[in-house]
Amino acid sequence: MNEQLGEVLIGREELAAKVAELGQAIARDYAGRVPVLVGVLKGAAMFMMDLIRATPIPLEIDFMAVSSYGAATESSGVVRILKDLDAPIVDRHVILVEDIIDSGMTMAYVLDMLRRRNPASLRIAALLVKERAAAAGLNAHYRGFTIPERFVVGYGLDFQEQYRNLPYIATLDNSEHTAPVALI
Ligand code: IMP
Ligand code: MG
Repeated sequence: MNEQLGEVLIGREELAAKVAELGQAIARDYAGRVPVLVGVLKGAAMFMMDLIRATPIPLEIDFMAVSSYGAATESSGVVRILKDLDAPIVDRHVILVEDIIDSGMTMAYVLDMLRRRNPASLRIAALLVKERAAAAGLNAHYRGFTIPERFVVGYGLDFQEQYRNLPYIATLDNSEHTAPVALI
């Protein structure tokens, strides 16, 4: 099943070092405030679990699951909620934990939805940001890596639900398997 894998883009040590750095930054910024980290399932699950272990302050976690709507070849920006948060976030300091920002449409939608619940503050932690998103000014307060316009898998990220268990980030090289196809 690994024949579609391309090269390793970010190895496990590089991931661990970056996650440790992000955890320290969050711990410093949120000391004394007990933030709620909201992970977006399923892609952000692995990042989230490593990130909270690297964040040595009192905190809470929650998860939501969303999926892009419609048969567009690109993320449509219309997002369906598959699982909502367990608890209200009003007056809480919320950090939205995302696996990857590509067009940024998913993130923009979720962010808007959370903002309407009146949290005390709202920031984004994204493991990966694709160059076009960074170029469009879409960014995250806590960002792991900016990556080129390649479809990547591993460390939580999937292609047709597989490869999430890889402990590193790799490209998927087959030209048939580009991001728009995977988003259908
Ligand atoms: P966006 O709305 O275009 O930012 O895309 C959001 C979602 O598409 C992400 O949360 C991922 O689930 C998926 N996605 C985008 N690019 C990739 C990729 O390179 N690998 C795996 N999933 C991706
Ligand atoms: Mg996916």
